[in-house]
Amino acid sequence: MASLLYVSLCVLVSAILSDTPSAQAYRIWLPRNASAHEGGSFMQVHLHRDNETGSKRFEGSSPYVKMQYHMGPVLTSSIRVYIIWYGTWKSSQKAIIRDFLHSLSGPVSKRRPTVGAWWNTVQLYTDQTGANISKSVVLAGEVYDHYSHGKILSRMTVQEVIRDSIRNGSLKVDSCGGLYMVLTSEDVQMQDFCRAVCGFHYFTFPSIVGYTLPYAWIGNSALQCPEYCAYPFKVPSYMIGFEPLKPPNRDVGVDGMVSVIGHELAELSSNPLINAWYAGNDPTAPTEIADLCEGIYGTGGGGSYMGSVSVDTYGASFNLHGIKRRKYLVQWIWNPIVNYCTGSNFMG
Ligand SMILES: *[C@@H]1O[C@H](CO)[C@@H](O)[C@H](O)[C@H]1NC(C)=O
Ligand SMILES: *[C@@H]1O[C@H](CO)[C@@H](O)[C@H](O)[C@H]1NC(C)=O
Ligand SMILES: *[C@@H]1O[C@H](CO)[C@@H](O)[C@H](O)[C@H]1NC(C)=O
Ligand SMILES: *[C@@H]1O[C@H](CO)[C@@H](O)[C@H](O)[C@H]1NC(C)=O
Repeated sequence: MASLLYVSLCVLVSAILSDTPSAQAYRIWLPRNASAHEGGSFMQVHLHRDNETGSKRFEGSSPYVKMQYHMGPVLTSSIRVYIIWYGTWKSSQKAIIRDFLHSLSGPVSKRRPTVGAWWNTVQLYTDQTGANISKSVVLAGEVYDHYSHGKILSRMTVQEVIRDSIRNGSLKVDSCGGLYMVLTSEDVQMQDFCRAVCGFHYFTFPSIVGYTLPYAWIGNSALQCPEYCAYPFKVPSYMIGFEPLKPPNRDVGVDGMVSVIGHELAELSSNPLINAWYAGNDPTAPTEIADLCEGIYGTGGGGSYMGSVSVDTYGASFNLHGIKRRKYLVQWIWNPIVNYCTGSNFMG
């Protein structure tokens, strides 16, 4: 069974080679007060939730949300993540992110709720054959890129960054379960970073990279816009009365990135070629499984309330335990069975 599905994803990947869309659908991670024009269906969901006084039991529930399967592949065979550390990264920062990835399907922490159980919501998504998204997510490779394309990147140069590491053999081509993540350090600017995105995902173009590979970019926002991209560890000034929370790994930018990495991983796995799971009728602006739950980290979350999360002895907020006694605060994911957002710290 597994090998059949493995083949089918690869067939679909090669089928799309001849039909590369010209418009890129970026994963837009919107700040809360983005304009209605930019926000589209996303803001509608939030407004609805704010005004839904009846029941907050179903976090993020909305009759307007129709998460639909568009027949494309999802990642049903073992998921292998390849990281490109772009720019300058401290070893403490890399450790926070590596430990998060190793917690997804690594040794199970004795403390609950776990990072691994958080992935259970993503596993509920299936492909045409009924096969679920893989339980196995491993960090399969890492490369360093010391500003090969400078300190200002665009959506296209990110693909060149991936291409260059593939060309010189430091990254392998893994088109059946491989996900490529370009992580940029706090001094690297990205087109639309802060203004509209904290991270995005798409797939690489054969004309640039030579292959169609699902990839994501996530930036460290610490020096640029932590109040949007590392929220709630920094809070925008217009949110009067909201105190920022303490980050569980003492690093505002990287702790903020971890939730965005979780967001992008969930969407890359359920919509790797932008033709599988999303809501809305516009494939150039799909509302995907993590978009619907942005800002929700615990039971009761919705509107500007993040939901019920834990606080450790140092006063840091978290909702997941990982390996090596790590703690993380990661947003919830849309659950297609119950039609609301869930996470492993769900309290029924
Ligand atoms: C959000 O709202 C504040 C205050 O109204 C404004 O200064 C800021 O530019 C807005 N941000 C975006 C991304 O629209
Ligand atoms: C609905 O939500 C909006 C945005 O939060 C708010 O301004 C408005 O007052 C709410 N309306 C009702 C009836 O609660
Ligand atoms: C696989 O997906 C189906 C449909 O969403 C769900 O009922 C089932 O529990 C999932 N299996 C696992 C192991 O998550
Ligand atoms: C491969 O290319 C990348 C991107 O240009 C570069 O950062 C890296 O150092 C190169 N690796 C080798 C082994 O040449």
